[in-house]
Amino acid sequence: MVTNAQYNKMAVKTAEKVHKARQLWKQNLQRQTRTIEQKFPKNYRPGFGVAMEYERMGNQHISEELSDLSLSLNLRLEHLGITLGTLIHGLDLAKPLDDNMVRCLRKILLERKVIFFRNQVIDPEELVRFASYFGELDAFPFGKGNEKNPFVLEIIHGEESPGNQNGWHTDVTWMENPSLGSVAQCIVLPPYGGDTLFSDSHACYLGMPTKLRDKVRYIWGENDYRGFLGEHSSGGLSEELVNEIKSVIPFGVNHPLFRTHPETKKTALYINPSFIRPESLYDIRNDNKLGESVSKTIISELLKQHNQPEYTCRFKWEKGSIAFWDNRAVQHFATSDYYPHQRVLRRVTISGDRPYFDSESDDTYLSG
Ligand SMILES: [Fe+2]
Repeated sequence: MVTNAQYNKMAVKTAEKVHKARQLWKQNLQRQTRTIEQKFPKNYRPGFGVAMEYERMGNQHISEELSDLSLSLNLRLEHLGITLGTLIHGLDLAKPLDDNMVRCLRKILLERKVIFFRNQVIDPEELVRFASYFGELDAFPFGKGNEKNPFVLEIIHGEESPGNQNGWHTDVTWMENPSLGSVAQCIVLPPYGGDTLFSDSHACYLGMPTKLRDKVRYIWGENDYRGFLGEHSSGGLSEELVNEIKSVIPFGVNHPLFRTHPETKKTALYINPSFIRPESLYDIRNDNKLGESVSKTIISELLKQHNQPEYTCRFKWEKGSIAFWDNRAVQHFATSDYYPHQRVLRRVTISGDRPYFDSESDDTYLSG
């Protein structure tokens, strides 16, 4: 039996040998020119995906030009993650914004994918005014809007309705033109928890195993809103009402699983597990259906991608905090860890456009 003292003596000697061997190995590696890909393990790639996205951003959180513009407008930027998430200090959204400020915020959103503000004392109309700077708004047909303003959705969770947005998703993929982004404000905060996580859909795409990426490149799927109709029960809706809804709001729209961001031209992994029909995947080049088994396997492999902490940043809400995320660039996940307490957010969504995938938009970067 080895005593503790003997074990430690051997461990110290071994550590010296391991250290020397590693020093030699590192010196050899430094003499070689390695790509980012070669520096990361092949079997676990999220670190690689983030590094690639950061490199594409010029190895900086934000471009110099935008940093200068923000400073000139007296904004202080606090970045939450290396490739996504920026808390913007120095702005009171109760006051109207001029064109220059809106242009600057839009650029920060495009570069950082999700932006945040603290301590905003604004009413629903002012929230709508803020969101409207960035486009037209989308009303939400499956939740009643604010009494005064139908574009403001109150997302209320508490003892009788625990939080249920705790899965990675991008909003409203059942729409033909899913919302560009969402602006949400915290109205009631639970004493603990209730954070929202955001995941970088571009880094996710870049870090995806090559085989999976090649397999999914031309695959599209059908999305619908059956979950809101009560898939396994009536959900309180009569057959007549369900038919009426389906006759006015398209039920079943095809979107690509990889989406080209219409402004930055970057590719994002684009999937919402609640809305995509599990058997619906098909190859856009020949319309061939993949079949239920293959479709389900691909969807489950894709869903694992966002679920890797490297891609994420986490936002801790305070009363009055606002988050504005780009649905074309991030997924989000609302933690449901505050039962039986209440959490209330007010959300406004900004109209987007039809998702498309330009297969050449990222090829140059990936092979470069
Ligand atoms: Fe959501």
